[in-house]
Amino acid sequence: MQNLNIVLGFDVNLMLFFAASDFDRFLGCVCRKKYICKALKSNIVFKIPSHLDTLSVEYQSNKEHYLELIRQHRDKLFSVSQGGPSIAVEKHRKRGKLLARERIELLIDPKTPFLELSPMAANGQYGDEFPSAGIVTGIGVIHGREAVIVANDATVKGGTYIKESIRKHLRAQEIAMQNHLPCVYMVDSGGVFLPEQAEVFPDRDDFGRIFFNQAQLSAMGCPQVAIVMGSCTAGGAYVPAMSDETIIVRNQGTIFIGGPPLVKAATGETVTPEELGGAEVHTSRSGVADHLAENDQHAIEICRNIFETLPPAEKQILDIKPSTPPAYDPEEIYGNMQSDPKHQTNPYEIIARLVDGSLFHEFKARYATTLVTGFAHIMGFPVGIIANNGVLFAESSLKGAHFIELCNFRKVPILFLQNITGFMVGRKYENEGLARDGAKLVHAVANANVPKITVITGGSYGAGNYAMAGRAYDPHFLFMWPGAKISVMGGQQAAHVLAQVKQEQLEAAGKPVDHDALEKMKAEILAKYAIESSAWYSTSRLWDDGIIEPLQTRQVVAMAIAISQNKKYGEPRNGVYRM
Ligand code: COA
Repeated sequence: MQNLNIVLGFDVNLMLFFAASDFDRFLGCVCRKKYICKALKSNIVFKIPSHLDTLSVEYQSNKEHYLELIRQHRDKLFSVSQGGPSIAVEKHRKRGKLLARERIELLIDPKTPFLELSPMAANGQYGDEFPSAGIVTGIGVIHGREAVIVANDATVKGGTYIKESIRKHLRAQEIAMQNHLPCVYMVDSGGVFLPEQAEVFPDRDDFGRIFFNQAQLSAMGCPQVAIVMGSCTAGGAYVPAMSDETIIVRNQGTIFIGGPPLVKAATGETVTPEELGGAEVHTSRSGVADHLAENDQHAIEICRNIFETLPPAEKQILDIKPSTPPAYDPEEIYGNMQSDPKHQTNPYEIIARLVDGSLFHEFKARYATTLVTGFAHIMGFPVGIIANNGVLFAESSLKGAHFIELCNFRKVPILFLQNITGFMVGRKYENEGLARDGAKLVHAVANANVPKITVITGGSYGAGNYAMAGRAYDPHFLFMWPGAKISVMGGQQAAHVLAQVKQEQLEAAGKPVDHDALEKMKAEILAKYAIESSAWYSTSRLWDDGIIEPLQTRQVVAMAIAISQNKKYGEPRNGVYRM
């Protein structure tokens, strides 16, 4: 299982989602042009100078702080990667079944990466009884085709769905739609987790949406293959029934709308699961499944054979160059990440350690310097970078909107490096029309026709989150670094605002102000915000696609762009900009 460890990111030394040496295999047969480097002769493409003092006390203390965050993150990741309780894992194995992540490893091409999404969903909730929310989702390569893979983990409460499992499943399908990817569903699930039915059944984005999405994906021409490797009950029966092709494992897979106990209760008929909806029945009589497999391995092989019959994707052409490492050691990012949120982290030092050769073609370097914009390559892929370097002003909004227009017209994917406390506040700025110009940036971000990839490296607060392609702005992917924070405003500010409102209420009512009570209230708000703004809290609730380490960012961004090439980028379009 050593390869699995590497593929899924549990290699102790690297903690990558995949082995870097195998990365090129993911990128498939992208045509790579010979790179003629004119960069050093030009005065606008430059190697970013680094001013990091790696011997300073501040650097060392930042680094130690960040490495501790990484350690905590890895511990949590390792723990959820084990799946359900050992007794359930044992039972699963005794039945001759592979675990969800092992199934994925066999499905994807050997030694290719698997970009697992939201592995820490539901972490810290439900008494931690739902590791990874009982479902593994991500993107891997099957016979050279990038595909979305959704695999139930039957060792976690029989693979049943809580709210976060559904969100993961729907998010995986959304990624398939956005990038025009085929989907494979490895089904082994008891359907809805019944005690949580009110949270998972009735609403729009609940269990039923999975099948609605299947119909949509099908109509879009995204192939879908189901492998029934265990239970597939009630509404879940529609997963195989709505797929293009379905494989079912003998004496193991079952598909039925109502299981034997329900049939008994409703009609009095006594029937075994196998008789009701086993592999024999569905491949020879009902036609609900198309291919009979003898075991998990055989089923996976059939699925890989099906992929051989798929037509190739029509790819978006990008100006891809040979990948070169950054000129500076990426590990130095840790020393650059300010552990004190009051200090601004230098985005140039981050960009210098993410992009090829540390070469950056900066746009408007001298104007609106709290927003850094420019072109670069990451593992050979062209990218437009927008990074925060302080609060957003009206002119930074204009600069950002202008740069997005450049990316739209040049068809260059955009990487947002988010570390934003928000827009500048105050009479001067409001009177000068901050909202008018901020709206232009929000417009541009919302309507960008090229893929947006957001990495929250530091803070993500308030309207700054919108302007920098937060989750509501449909970035193709959104990842957080372990030290990232997300909330409507900082805890201090929220505590202050609420205390001020309370005080004014009391004063208006002519009541005495209890300052001790106000201080207690502030402390409570602060403590609540500290928990709720952490990256772990966010990722548990699917506000992002997962936490990645700074050193994984190059590969993850390159992979995200490679994935996005499966759908041709649209033409530029705008709404009405307020002038
Ligand atoms: N809702 C809530 N919990 C469920 C569940 C469901 N639909 N199905 C299974 N579970 C729980 C079990 O209570 C058990 O929990 P525990 O570990 O805390 O004791 C755990 O999942 C494993 O179930 P178990 O039956 O021991 O495992 P199994 O591998 O032998 O069987 C299933 C798994 C899913 C085939 C079987 O439990 C089953 O048929 N469940 C009912 C499915 C159903 O009717 N779903 C309709 C929902 S729409």
